[in-house]
Amino acid sequence: MSNILVTENVTKKFEGLVAVNKANIVVKENSFTLLIGPNGSGKTTLINCCTGILKPTSGRVMLGDTDITGWKPHQIYDVGFVRTFQIPLPFIGLTVLDNVLGAMRNIGESPVKAISKRTWVEEEEKNMIHAMEILAKVGLDKHWNLPSGALGAAQLKLLEVAKGLSSGAKIIALDEPIGGVDPASAHEILSHVAELKSEGLTFLVVEHRIDIAAPFADYIYAMDLGTIISEGPPEQVLNDPKVIEVYIGKGVEAC
Ligand SMILES: Nc1ncnc2c1ncn2[C@@H]1O[C@H](COP(=O)(O)OP(=O)(O)OP(=O)(O)O)[C@@H](O)[C@H]1O
Ligand SMILES: [Mg+2]
Repeated sequence: MSNILVTENVTKKFEGLVAVNKANIVVKENSFTLLIGPNGSGKTTLINCCTGILKPTSGRVMLGDTDITGWKPHQIYDVGFVRTFQIPLPFIGLTVLDNVLGAMRNIGESPVKAISKRTWVEEEEKNMIHAMEILAKVGLDKHWNLPSGALGAAQLKLLEVAKGLSSGAKIIALDEPIGGVDPASAHEILSHVAELKSEGLTFLVVEHRIDIAAPFADYIYAMDLGTIISEGPPEQVLNDPKVIEVYIGKGVEAC
């Protein structure tokens, strides 16, 4: 498997605070790569540096052969890398379907062409069919006409994944996709992610709930105080004394 995302010594400083310190991670194509670490360890900041929300203070972010360091989020979206946020923020008054349609690429239309050629009709129909296919992949198709504000916590997380998929992305970073969700629904969310992976997608997943997420992971990176302290297959990282110490030290069980 080739590397789809590589960070080279990525560092992010907020004035005196080093939130991410020379982080080197490699995400293989078609993998489920899990990033774990206690609160404030720098996971979201690292994802933000990869997806253009933040500019790294130093270091490089490579997407395949392309250096995307410091690119704007929409430019990174355009080359097939999208992310979801810890707290889902859909347009709550819009339907589930409209939220997905809103996240899609739109070719745009000149007013003159729109009247004379009406090519947008065909485009909108195509998008609608595609959006319904995506909703089916995450089990939300039956709720397509509900306002997204009526969805439960797990369904909102799945809607985030659907919005990510609608762009045609090849790699999706999910920031705590099962945070605040009951264990059965959490398992369902990650099962959908695993199914999407089997179709060829790549996932970089930040998660606290290691017991639920680790069985889905191909490879794990553990962070503490901005630094990658361990990496490897799940068994190896979860049994790494450095990782156990960090979690026990912070009052959380590693697994
Ligand atoms: N925009 C910012 N300005 C200043 N400090 C920040 C900013 N964003 C994050 N930090 C700090 O950087 C450190 C890492 O935060 P980050 O949100 O990346 O952690 P995290 O691992 O995602 O934590 P959590 O598990 O709670 O989501 C924290 O000390 C945080 O307070
Ligand atoms: Mg975070």
